[in-house]
Amino acid sequence: MRKKIVAGNWKMNTTLQEGVKLAQEVEALAASVSNDALIIVCTPFTHLTEVKKSIKKVKLGAENCAAEVSGAYTGEVSASMVASTGAEYVIIGHSERRAYYHETDEILAKKVKLALANNLTPIFCIGELLSEREAGKHFDVVKSQLEKGLFDLSAEDFGKLVIAYEPVWAIGTGKTATSAQAQEIHKVIREAIAAKYGKTVADNTSILYGGSCNDKNAAELFANPDVDGGLIGGAALKAESFITIAKSF
Ligand code: 13P
Repeated sequence: MRKKIVAGNWKMNTTLQEGVKLAQEVEALAASVSNDALIIVCTPFTHLTEVKKSIKKVKLGAENCAAEVSGAYTGEVSASMVASTGAEYVIIGHSERRAYYHETDEILAKKVKLALANNLTPIFCIGELLSEREAGKHFDVVKSQLEKGLFDLSAEDFGKLVIAYEPVWAIGTGKTATSAQAQEIHKVIREAIAAKYGKTVADNTSILYGGSCNDKNAAELFANPDVDGGLIGGAALKAESFITIAKSF
């Protein structure tokens, strides 16, 4: 069956020293998590190697990777570079990458393939804008993001992914999706996966919720049958709140 996962997305926060300290605190508190949830910290590229030295139970991820293999792409960091730090996960398609860096479905599909080719597990983000939800288009938006970003993968490769549903209107706004809204759309996402790859693949895919998920609301969100954990922004920057979320299953 699918894994329960709590992943922190640190975004562009913490210096290297602050990040190492945070990772040490998360690792220390992770010992008190008695469920079998997978705990992941996704850090800035600059922190990966040092954070890796500070964690054991907690797993490591990056927040992005390049859409090209190697070469003259100044400032980019490839999937193989990420993997060489000991990271095992990589967030791909975060709404901030889509919106601010113009990452299209086609670019994201390339990143996913490069991540998989380097044995990284993509945490692939999808989610609608407020205007799209208000227009009643949210189901179509997430289905289109799945289809264009992922649905040319083989069933075997798709089975390696983690999906994160993050409604853009809930990210960093303090405005969380209700438990019912989360369950409703996670179910739609799982059904779309089942229609493409079959029920077994769909049932084995972890679908995380992200967007103002915190130590107060995580338990209610995670109690839903199709919500398999969270992708956590702000609340992942404090070890105690992050670990409280990990205990919320
Ligand atoms: P917040 O938890 O800060 O809303 O961020 C969510 C997110 O974007 C995680 O990727």
